[in-house]
Amino acid sequence: MSQSVTLNHGDKTYEFPLVQGSENELGIDIKSLRAQTGLITYDPGFKNTGSCQSGITFLDGEEGILRYRGYSIEELADNASFLEVAYLLIFGEMPTAQQIKKFDADIRAESLVDEDIKIILKSFPKAAHPMGVLSSLTSALIAFNPSSVDIDSEKDMYEAIVLLMAKFPILCAWAHRKVKGLPLNYANTALDYEQNIAHMMFKMPHQDYVPNQKVISAINKLLILHADHEQNCSTSTVRIVGSSQAGLFASVSSGISALWGPLHGGANQAVLEMLEAIKADGGDTKKYMAKAKDKNDPFRLMGFGHRVYKNFDPRARIIKKAADEVLNDLGIEDPILEIAKGLEQEALNDPYFVDRKLYPNVDFYSGIIYRALGIPTEMFTVMFALGRLPGWIAQWREMRMQKEPIGRPRQIYTGATERSL
Ligand code: ACO
Repeated sequence: MSQSVTLNHGDKTYEFPLVQGSENELGIDIKSLRAQTGLITYDPGFKNTGSCQSGITFLDGEEGILRYRGYSIEELADNASFLEVAYLLIFGEMPTAQQIKKFDADIRAESLVDEDIKIILKSFPKAAHPMGVLSSLTSALIAFNPSSVDIDSEKDMYEAIVLLMAKFPILCAWAHRKVKGLPLNYANTALDYEQNIAHMMFKMPHQDYVPNQKVISAINKLLILHADHEQNCSTSTVRIVGSSQAGLFASVSSGISALWGPLHGGANQAVLEMLEAIKADGGDTKKYMAKAKDKNDPFRLMGFGHRVYKNFDPRARIIKKAADEVLNDLGIEDPILEIAKGLEQEALNDPYFVDRKLYPNVDFYSGIIYRALGIPTEMFTVMFALGRLPGWIAQWREMRMQKEPIGRPRQIYTGATERSL
């Protein structure tokens, strides 16, 4: 097969090399396109544009494959801890026993934030959305930890990563406690990462908190499933902000804002609100299917469709099974789960959804599990952010270490041509 493509424009022919990935994906290397031809490419939503070369996560949307650093999501979700997966994503290999022990101990040692963070938190109205609070507090962390990271120093890089991994769950839990009007819990160094998340979120001032192992392992699985997803909207945001050499915390803070939108991480909240609305409306799934298909109706079946997965989302399969298990284990009967399963069945047999290759995505069932764990709806996207943190860190680190140029797309200008007042 030819290792290049030719482009004919006017009376000239140009040749561009192909780049090939380790899973044989091919791309046209157009780095010299404008210099050679004076042309740019036009690709709204970057549907055909590779922004980088990355060795972190592999996705095959046609086959429904997701792998972190070569390991399948199914294997990791069943056999690894979230902290091991975080280490794998960020540093490239599964940690040895000694490496994970040190990573865990370093994170536990840093699991405290400056007390003045509480003053900032206090100034938010109680009705503030926790994603806005989380993004602001992550940005505010910079002021309290103003170290500049020398990206050529593994030590500097490691310390910044440990700081963020340690302090981020505290901010997530505090955003939740603020909304609920509950006192803020500190991390407990005797607990592991997932136990601490549950402890900081759920411990009541007037009761002992005994972590439920089923809740902890469900949180572990959900965090792993959300940990990375290559160049999605929030990750691309983290990389592009970081490409201006903004720091790790600032870059992650912008990723949180990108994740908030209902077409991205905010979909898990939107799914549950949609299922609630269907239930309140008498459970008529057919009516909502018709709305989703009506081009004059802005309603979309939330939790369905994906930019990359055109077969099925492997995370959705794992989550659907986990939702059944968690509800069963905790002895919860939730009519919302039945409505979700009914909608899925209808969509999988409906030509509108089949023709457009629209399948349930990761968000379709995750909210049902979060709800069963006692996590309020407005916190769902925060839980997503908590899971995605190692992915954002890994992608930021890779981008800085590859010394990628500043991200700066071009445009086709369509405004007024030169005129005078
Ligand atoms: N309900 C009804 N119709 C849909 C849906 C849906 N959920 N998703 C896509 N379609 C239709 C579109 O109307 C379009 O139809 P047309 O070809 O007749 O115009 C076609 O399917 C293609 O849709 P696009 O929006 O062009 O696909 P795109 O790749 O740009 O969007 C997205 C993907 C944003 C995920 C979309 O499917 C969607 O809005 N889904 C609902 C929101 C959601 O669940 N987001 C979470 C995504 S996963 C994540 O970020 C973690």
